[in-house]
Amino acid sequence: MTSVQKCESPGCTQNANLRCPTCIKLGIAGSFFCSQDCFKNNWKSHKIVHSLARGQGANDSRDTGLYNPWPNYNFTGKLRPFPQSAKRVVPLNIDRPDYADHPQGFPLSEQAVKGSGHIKVLDDEEIEGVKVACKLGREVLDEAARVCDVGVTTDEIDRIVHEACIERDCYPSPLNYYEFPKSCCTSVNEVICHGIPDTRPLEDGDICNVDITVYHNGFHGDLNETFFVGNVGDKVKDLVKVTYECLSKAIEIVKPGEKYREIGNVIQKHAQTHGYSVVKSYCGHGIHRLFHTAPNVPHYAKNRAIGVMKPGHCFTIEPMISMGTWRDEMWPDKWTAVTVDGQYSAQFEQTLLVNETGCEILTRRREKNGQPHFMDKL
Ligand code: MF3
Ligand code: CO
Ligand code: CO
Repeated sequence: MTSVQKCESPGCTQNANLRCPTCIKLGIAGSFFCSQDCFKNNWKSHKIVHSLARGQGANDSRDTGLYNPWPNYNFTGKLRPFPQSAKRVVPLNIDRPDYADHPQGFPLSEQAVKGSGHIKVLDDEEIEGVKVACKLGREVLDEAARVCDVGVTTDEIDRIVHEACIERDCYPSPLNYYEFPKSCCTSVNEVICHGIPDTRPLEDGDICNVDITVYHNGFHGDLNETFFVGNVGDKVKDLVKVTYECLSKAIEIVKPGEKYREIGNVIQKHAQTHGYSVVKSYCGHGIHRLFHTAPNVPHYAKNRAIGVMKPGHCFTIEPMISMGTWRDEMWPDKWTAVTVDGQYSAQFEQTLLVNETGCEILTRRREKNGQPHFMDKL
């Protein structure tokens, strides 16, 4: 006896004799539909069974379970992308970098000097320019720190950052840089860097790095910190603390005559002592009128970075330290860098100006900003 199959589409009571071709291929039983229309209308929720059959999970059924932009991507850890909000707009009265209006976000001024290796020595006027940008960047990061908490989405952090930039007559440097879609980077848990703010609410125990760069009066200032969300486990807290120490120890050796390649030796020694690894794919960088330029500043040991520090050099150090492997891969969004083993990674960044005796941390915390530093929460 043959039983009559009913259509899978919710609410449809029709008899069905069409089967989903993907389900047939994957050996999934059932999956009958009455018509092409019912099949198409039900596709968004139906295709989840394909991901499940392929062992890819259903894009975390803790949320709606309906958003999985990359059904064929194998996530390395537990974090999943959530829908993004619409692109934010910067009023046209605010001075914009060249890439802000380039159709592919190309920073033509940066590309023009790429490969020259020349490290700019800033004059007094330029020094004043980067100092102001860095101070404003710090203020914006402190605004982000204030709201970073359980239940807050990274998109909400991006909104606060975007508005804080505009209030200070700054363009949020990430926006449209090589088409980056948001005004800051938010990198949660196994995300190493360049996470895109989205509508995922932060959860108790997460760590969330917020990376701010602002463009003001022709100069960029760049900094980031990793924040605790609610109660973070002791092992993860230790990762964040050691990452902070890696940056501090690296800054201590910055002075005229020092080789840029030494920074990585200091960072890896400290990370390794605590059983952690140093990400190799992303480096610190020169910064001033250009967002990313010479010198290139690797954070790992035995690197072959070119150049010697001189007074007037301005650059970032921004080590990314991981609990497991140093290896990274990218989500299909071409931005989000994650650890390949799904273990957590932390980062801190400052913009530095080399002076006659050492360096000035241009993005340092100033006085009291009304909020506890993460060190106070250890
Ligand atoms: N702020 C990051 C850095 O430290 C760069 C972000 S580029 C972006 O270098 F396009 F992702 F925003
Ligand atoms: Co940055
Ligand atoms: Co940077």
